[in-house]
Amino acid sequence: MKQGKRVGIVGAGNVGATVAYSLAMLGSCHEIILRDNKIDVAKGKALDMSQAASAVRSHTVVTVAEDISDLTNCDVVVVTAGSPRLPGMSRDDLLMINANITKDVIKGIAKYSPEAIIIMVSNPLDAMTYVALRESGFERSRVIGMAGILDSSRMAAFIQEKLGYGGGQIRASVMGGHGDDMVPLPRYSTVAGVPLSDVLTKEEIDEIVVRTRHGGAEIVGYLKTGSAYYAPAKSAAIMVEAILKDTKQIHPCAVFLEGEYGHDNVVSGVPVMLGANGAEKIIEVTLDDAEKEMFANSCNSVQTLIDTLNKNNFFGDN
Ligand code: LAC
Repeated sequence: MKQGKRVGIVGAGNVGATVAYSLAMLGSCHEIILRDNKIDVAKGKALDMSQAASAVRSHTVVTVAEDISDLTNCDVVVVTAGSPRLPGMSRDDLLMINANITKDVIKGIAKYSPEAIIIMVSNPLDAMTYVALRESGFERSRVIGMAGILDSSRMAAFIQEKLGYGGGQIRASVMGGHGDDMVPLPRYSTVAGVPLSDVLTKEEIDEIVVRTRHGGAEIVGYLKTGSAYYAPAKSAAIMVEAILKDTKQIHPCAVFLEGEYGHDNVVSGVPVMLGANGAEKIIEVTLDDAEKEMFANSCNSVQTLIDTLNKNNFFGDN
């Protein structure tokens, strides 16, 4: 018998739970299944969210997978599992810890939800997306990292703050990896269609670029005990919705490159068209020489992480 849409969420911490809550409030799918090693916490949150869904007359039910083998037949699985980024810890410090967690989780997803589209959220994001691709054996269109929507939203919020107007009308563009050398693109950012350079000085734009690159760390600095979660979770939920609704809209996401932008065998953030089949198309934007160089630097940083994984024989013989 056909069933409604099922979304699995691995890791029911702040990010995972907020993705679930966002989807449940919108009634984006029939069922959301939370998977977390802290089973009671997951059960408590699932009950709480199902009750919130009832309050808004949403049909979505939130359940718990007590084991990864209960995460069956999902259409989309969002992976947020991993050690959180603590103050002073770079995203890269998390590499080996989270690569091992990701490997386990992905093997389970590939086995029990073999048709799923995987959205990676765990950091370091681009390297974890690479790990997920390798460990799942899925085609690249079905393993997508969440970062570009988050980084672009941060840039847009900083533009709004600097201008004092334009909220909700700002389209900011960020490409590259989800690291300190991400590539904010002021040239492709507008306020209601007005180029940024018509409303802000070069110094102001430069400030926004720097702040965007460190947008995650700024929030970690305030929260102290963990990283941001409202914007990361909403960004992941936007990707889930685009896939479930087959919107064919363009969002910046982390995907495995096979020659696009002149890069190969590395994951980076680029504009992609999201639809029922995942990242259905990669859009190639024209970059000038300086932007190309920044993008290459960012890809090199991700490549260094992949090299570290290889040096540690992380992928073994597979
Ligand atoms: C951030 C973390 C989630 O950028 O990477 O907030």
